[in-house]
Amino acid sequence: MDEQQLTRRKTASDRVITVLGATGQQGGSVATALLEAGWRVRAVVRDPSSSRARRLEAAGIETATGDLGDPASLRSAFTGAHGVFSVQPSSGQAGSEVTDDDEVAYGISVADTARDAGVEHLVYSSAIAAGPTSTGIAHFDTKSRIEEHIEGLDICSTIVRPASFMEILLLPGMGLAGGRFSFLMDNEQPMQFIAVRDIGAIVGQIFSTPNEFAHRTLDIAGDALTGHQLAQHFSVALGRPIDYQRMNPSVLQRGDVLSRLAAAVDDGRLAGHVDLTELRQRFPFLLRFGDWLASRDAGSIATAGRPVMGDVELR
Ligand SMILES: NC(=O)c1ccc[n+]([C@@H]2O[C@H](COP(=O)([O-])OP(=O)(O)OC[C@H]3O[C@@H](n4cnc5c(N)ncnc54)[C@H](OP(=O)(O)O)[C@@H]3O)[C@@H](O)[C@H]2O)c1
Repeated sequence: MDEQQLTRRKTASDRVITVLGATGQQGGSVATALLEAGWRVRAVVRDPSSSRARRLEAAGIETATGDLGDPASLRSAFTGAHGVFSVQPSSGQAGSEVTDDDEVAYGISVADTARDAGVEHLVYSSAIAAGPTSTGIAHFDTKSRIEEHIEGLDICSTIVRPASFMEILLLPGMGLAGGRFSFLMDNEQPMQFIAVRDIGAIVGQIFSTPNEFAHRTLDIAGDALTGHQLAQHFSVALGRPIDYQRMNPSVLQRGDVLSRLAAAVDDGRLAGHVDLTELRQRFPFLLRFGDWLASRDAGSIATAGRPVMGDVELR
């Protein structure tokens, strides 16, 4: 460790960042990156006896029992913290435990409580399609409402808007088992993605250089891929030819959330419009999809190649 790293580690290690959702994808990646950068990390967990909470503790992360629906528990978890990373579980998904109003109330409650507790820097993770114009897709419009509230608060804040996660491309049910991958974009239409690991790495840098990022909103992505390019990557990873075909038009014309997501890819809001060259200059570690896929264990790629009932609908 060189002198500069040692100084940064010493400075950061005196200060606490409280992380929401640390047992999940984004919060877990943020907690890992902050720990690596030498911050003291406090994770808000609903069940401290869960295996995921215990794994955080084993890694050197303090846990504070709390719930997004319980402002008193947030107050206690934010006391003395320099920063807070805010992420909420998504509303409106199949099997989601939260309503749209819950997601908004949670995001606002975190921001208000952080401001009242004297937190110096709030970083909120939104989504790439959020913004001033309604998307008509509930789990993006919830985030626009939270962003608007944060922007009106008297607190130093940064909003990151991640593109779709690379991880969702390995969820079973996209047709890989049958040799044909199906997703939201057209064969030749680029859509941007980010590796969850990189969300943590970017948020870590934001907390370390607050002056650069105060009161800014950053769309973040690591790669842009057409359907055809995705199929090429999967062909290499699986060692057999994979074709790409956009999800069946009858599925995309049903008027449900899937068809609205595809429309948001078509009009660019969900496809993403990050200048990847510029972003990579600031964050050179950003993973491209091929490198990310190569870093996956064979088991998770094999799982994505297994047939599930949803396959029939996607093709
Ligand atoms: N998937 C994508 O491509 C994508 C792209 C951009 C943005 N997003 C957004 O990302 C967000 C989800 O992030 P993620 O994938 O990191 O989440 P995740 O992996 O599903 O984890 C959710 C986390 O929230 C915690 N949690 C749930 N309810 C809670 C409550 N009432 N109080 C305190 N903690 C609670 C969970 O803790 P427990 O261990 O207690 O369950 C878990 O740590 C959503 O808002 C989604 O819209 C997703």
